[in-house]
Amino acid sequence: MPLKEKNIILGICGGIAAYKSADLISKLTKMGANVHVVMTKSAIKFITPLTLETLSGNRVFTNLFPPPKGDPLVHVDLADKADIIVVAPATANTLGKFAHGIADNLLSTLILATQAPILICPAMNTNMWQNEIVKANVQRLKDMGFYFVEPEWGELACGVEGYGRLAEVETIVEEIKTILSSKDLAGQKVLVTAGSTQEPLDPVRFLSNPSSGKMGYAMAKVARRRGAEVTLITGPTTLTPPRGVRVLGVKTALEMKNTVLDNFEDASIIVKAAAVSDFRPQRFFNKKVKKTPGKMEIGLKRNPDILKELGKKKGNRILVGFAAETHDIIKHAQKKLKEKNVDLMVVNPIGIPGAGFGSDTNMVKILDRKGDIVELPLMTKEKVAEEIWDKVVEIIRSG
Ligand code: CTP
Repeated sequence: MPLKEKNIILGICGGIAAYKSADLISKLTKMGANVHVVMTKSAIKFITPLTLETLSGNRVFTNLFPPPKGDPLVHVDLADKADIIVVAPATANTLGKFAHGIADNLLSTLILATQAPILICPAMNTNMWQNEIVKANVQRLKDMGFYFVEPEWGELACGVEGYGRLAEVETIVEEIKTILSSKDLAGQKVLVTAGSTQEPLDPVRFLSNPSSGKMGYAMAKVARRRGAEVTLITGPTTLTPPRGVRVLGVKTALEMKNTVLDNFEDASIIVKAAAVSDFRPQRFFNKKVKKTPGKMEIGLKRNPDILKELGKKKGNRILVGFAAETHDIIKHAQKKLKEKNVDLMVVNPIGIPGAGFGSDTNMVKILDRKGDIVELPLMTKEKVAEEIWDKVVEIIRSG
């Protein structure tokens, strides 16, 4: 995983959003990272070093002087050990210092001394964020290769609504993972389908399935993290689309098929994680179907098998299919792999607690064309996605 045993130096500046750094530290350490906190003088007025020391399990640094006796120089030591420096929240004042090479405290000195990538997450009042001086400083830093997670819209501590709120902690974590991930999918154009399809019967009813879209979204997120250009074709879900991914929303299997075919030519890898409805109501009623006494019958029509169609015209593209099975899992998955002409078939058993529809975890087997089977234990869908992409990278490398 991208954060395991990574040294993350977290710079915290003085702003009301400083309290959110506690959540950030706790999430990063849970993912296996080593977090070393550096606070500016004004940050200490918003949150105590003791809180952050307890959460990170590491000493919190606040001062450049006096240099600790017997220890290496703090700014050089931290600068060298950093895999990444994250500044969250970053104030307009600190941004200005970074942009102009001013080194008057530990954090700004560290920025000059490090070779590690630097991610800045600003938070400030809307007028300050939109001030031309701040804008120019941000642009200058971007041009010099600093990464940014820009502030979001929301209610600010000063009582107004606008841009300036520190980005969500999840967004910051995802950007850290992206920066630290190996870019082994760089240059790849990935098309992912996710979620269920809805096949309408009348204006208020449809035929569907409980797919949440989580597996497909995880595939899209991890592919983007590893450097791919990603298009996500998604059925209706409640999920937030991953950052940096082009998202195309669809409802029915026919819409999904058309959108996939429109984007297929350009793609080098296609991942069909969507749970496509195999059938649709034979006819659509323009008006709500009213209750009538006696039996009610609905005729169904077959939907096209999108994956099978792609398998016929895949050329050199890598095709990844998914299947959920209740019995004879391997046998059914092998049959689908051959019939649909895919390179990898990812199969999960139905009925195992914590696996499959709606869950955050999954337990899958990954089958390839050579007959190899990777059997994975129950793990988060994000980890499953990492494993699947590892297999895809193996296929790419083997030519
Ligand atoms: N799939 C598809 N179009 C369909 C049905 C399925 O593209 N109309 C794709 C899914 O996205 C998935 C794979 O085919 O990647 C396997 O889906 P699954 O429903 O398990 O397979 P089916 O072929 O529908 O087989 P069955 O329902 O008989 O098990």
